[in-house]
Amino acid sequence: MTEFIRNAWYAVCWSDELGVTPQSRQILGENLAVYRTANGVPAAVEDCCPHRLAPMSLGFVNGENIVCGYHGMEFDRDGFCESIPGQKNIPRKARIRTYPAVERYNLIWAWMGEQKETDDELIPDVHWLDAPGWTTVTGSTRYECNWLLLVDNLLDLTHTTFVHQSTIGTEDVANTPITTEFSGERVYVVRDMKNTAPSNLYKRIGGFDGRIDRWQRIWLEPPSVVVIEAGAIPAKCDRDGADREYNGFDTRVLSMLVPVDERTVEQIWAFARNTELDDAHLDVDIQKALELTFKEDADFLAGQQINMERHPHKQMLNNTADAGVVKTRRLIERWIADDLRRAGAADL
Ligand code: FES
Ligand SMILES: [Fe+2]
Repeated sequence: MTEFIRNAWYAVCWSDELGVTPQSRQILGENLAVYRTANGVPAAVEDCCPHRLAPMSLGFVNGENIVCGYHGMEFDRDGFCESIPGQKNIPRKARIRTYPAVERYNLIWAWMGEQKETDDELIPDVHWLDAPGWTTVTGSTRYECNWLLLVDNLLDLTHTTFVHQSTIGTEDVANTPITTEFSGERVYVVRDMKNTAPSNLYKRIGGFDGRIDRWQRIWLEPPSVVVIEAGAIPAKCDRDGADREYNGFDTRVLSMLVPVDERTVEQIWAFARNTELDDAHLDVDIQKALELTFKEDADFLAGQQINMERHPHKQMLNNTADAGVVKTRRLIERWIADDLRRAGAADL
């Protein structure tokens, strides 16, 4: 439970949360100062000045550089020191670690691995966040548990029947078996519910007063983004025809998981929908429902973490509904092994 995938992009915060004032963030146990330069470019450095180890997040931006707030050493975008107050010679070793940072899909992302391995192609695909025809409600929730427990939780929605009765859960979720599909390095967890009762949230979004067909397809985008594709349509309508557009809706619940350390994970989440795009009241209702839903999970996950530490030798029991979880865990193990190999090769 101690490893992370390091050669990968992790969401840091929403674009509109980042300005020129540096902020401290912890990701994969590493401390970063994140900020925008005067030109608005996102940037990240180690939150520790090489001089006397003061936090860089207490510093400030000067043009494209960041200045340590303690004695004024100034570093450029590559981390090289450009000036030391009262000193002419600047040693080469006066350098701070920088992290590649980019802005995409209304999020700031940081690359936590080897600089030379940085690859923009690997930014997780969450394009629904800024795609035309979609609108989003966003938030973030912190869990006192290892990030893998939250991956399990989001992949296996049988728990919604018991934990989230007031928002997204219904009897039929737990009672409907899942299937799993493996394709293109992803495990898809699929659940189709036909002629079922809508959850309270779905009644609110879709205005349903009768039974519905409802579907879920869930997968993990490496390293740690869980995509829940879900939607509903009145029962007996044609899911693949025009009915879907007029009477049904599609949603994506996107969870950008940020492992803070081994026993803390931040979930930067978004609920994207393709219906009632301008309904601000619906936004508020979805926001409340999602905040409540994730808070309900947080107690279970924190309790699981404590129990795992109390009983380090206990093995988890896998039920049929855990098939997707088990397969995804295997995939993650493979990604971690590949990542360690890459790091090993980089050390040579
Ligand atoms: S600790 Fe940063 S300049 Fe002294
Ligand atoms: Fe949940």
